[in-house]
Amino acid sequence: MDRRIHHLLNDLLILMLFIIVIYSIFTAYCPVKNKLYSRKSYKYEKKIKTQTNNDEQIVETVSTILSKNSDRIIKRNKLENLPWYFKDGIQEPNKAEVNPTTGVRISRLWPEEKKGDDRVEEQLMFIPPNYQYENAPMKTILLYNGISNWMVDEGQSEFLSNDCPVNRCIISTKTKLIYSMDAILFREEFYDPLSETGFKKNSKQIWILFFLQSAYYSGFDVGNDMINWTATYRHDSDIVIPYGRWAYFDPSVTRVEQLNINYSLNKTKQVAMIITNCDTDNQRLLYAKELGKYISVDVYGQCKGYKMNKFDNFLQILDQDYKFYLAFESSNCIDYVTEKFFIDGLQYNVLPVVMGGRREDYERMAPRRSYLHVDDFDSPKRLAEYLRQLDADDDLYNEYFRWKGTGEFIDTKFFCRLCALLHDEDAPAKHYRDLERWWRPPDVCDHSTKWLKPPPVE
Ligand SMILES: *[C@@H]1O[C@H](CO)[C@@H](O)[C@H](O)[C@H]1NC(C)=O
Ligand SMILES: *[C@@H]1O[C@H](CO)[C@@H](O)[C@H](O)[C@H]1NC(C)=O
Ligand SMILES: *[C@@H]1O[C@H](CO)[C@@H](O)[C@H](O)[C@H]1NC(C)=O
Repeated sequence: MDRRIHHLLNDLLILMLFIIVIYSIFTAYCPVKNKLYSRKSYKYEKKIKTQTNNDEQIVETVSTILSKNSDRIIKRNKLENLPWYFKDGIQEPNKAEVNPTTGVRISRLWPEEKKGDDRVEEQLMFIPPNYQYENAPMKTILLYNGISNWMVDEGQSEFLSNDCPVNRCIISTKTKLIYSMDAILFREEFYDPLSETGFKKNSKQIWILFFLQSAYYSGFDVGNDMINWTATYRHDSDIVIPYGRWAYFDPSVTRVEQLNINYSLNKTKQVAMIITNCDTDNQRLLYAKELGKYISVDVYGQCKGYKMNKFDNFLQILDQDYKFYLAFESSNCIDYVTEKFFIDGLQYNVLPVVMGGRREDYERMAPRRSYLHVDDFDSPKRLAEYLRQLDADDDLYNEYFRWKGTGEFIDTKFFCRLCALLHDEDAPAKHYRDLERWWRPPDVCDHSTKWLKPPPVE
């Protein structure tokens, strides 16, 4: 062979190896990128969130425009009994009762007090036994990373405008006054104020970490024993902040007649999915592709190597034309269920098929029989078989919409709950020894893609 060609080939080989190495470093680095934010970067937090949650975000904007009020088919007779945090609720909480022998309030507000539950409604209805509505000393809350991402104002207005039952709290951004604050809120990331302001935490202060991102794409760089309370989407956080939260008007009524609404009316297509974050470790796109071998699946978005549809008016099309919607999250972690499910899935007349949180997580947050979980099926093929059965049987399909009208997606009012808890004199003193261990134990995310195995032979 000509020596020059030989040389050239050699060079090419080296170049390719180089590219592969760079690429592997890049992909290995990606999942931990959030850990590597610098102090300055918090202002860009929104942008980064948009990257990890890209498809969810696009859809979110559209859905606010299209959002429908389909919860209104029935109303409870005794509407005045609805708690204050429902749209038409007016029932105000009473002060928490006290156990006469121990003198301690009876409420189940903390993860230790009610295991396996998010306690959102209990917290919304909590008023400490000795709370003085007009005279309780104000609790001060410092937003340590600034106010820009919070959509709140400084002062007391957040608590007043939301009609918080406990409203004696003040929001502040004055980092200089950190020593005088009752609570410090760190959003998405933690910087020890000691190194920045020379301020050392005192034991009366509550330090809180507020965090919305998936455990899979994030980690904390938090020293031991720093954080007292967590506020995340995980149900065992101290203050749970779910992306969506269903609440029944009357927990004993979970299904109602739908006044002969035929949810399959006019629907001519089967399965739809929207995606812009194409390369996720839970292989959601591959699942959709497998499913597509057995039932028609239309993928909207922009991933290379796939035939994609444009997604203008996606939600409208979804609502009108499709029977099923793949509400697949970008990672499969405990409790990680986003607006992809709550808004795009449940607010429209389409049956969501979910992947993301575990089955029991969806059971806690969503109406009963409002979705199908991929884990209910051995394989995409089995799921397709069931979807085809639903597609052919309107009565069976309509069964999955009978939850509509039995409750509402509530506003979980984080700041109201925070204020009430700060006034809780019986709050157990607590802090997280090793937060990362709580946030990311080895089994918190499951990307084993077990469904890739061939289905068992009958
Ligand atoms: C629902 O509507 C479809 C037309 O889209 C019709 O074929 C079907 O019979 C209807 N089913 C019921 C239960 O009314
Ligand atoms: C179904 O299509 C008919 C005719 O286009 C329309 O009048 C009707 O509103 C549609 N129904 C639903 C539920 O979209
Ligand atoms: C907050 O955490 C500290 C440890 O950093 C602890 O000493 C203190 O008791 C905690 N306070 C409360 C009210 O939980």
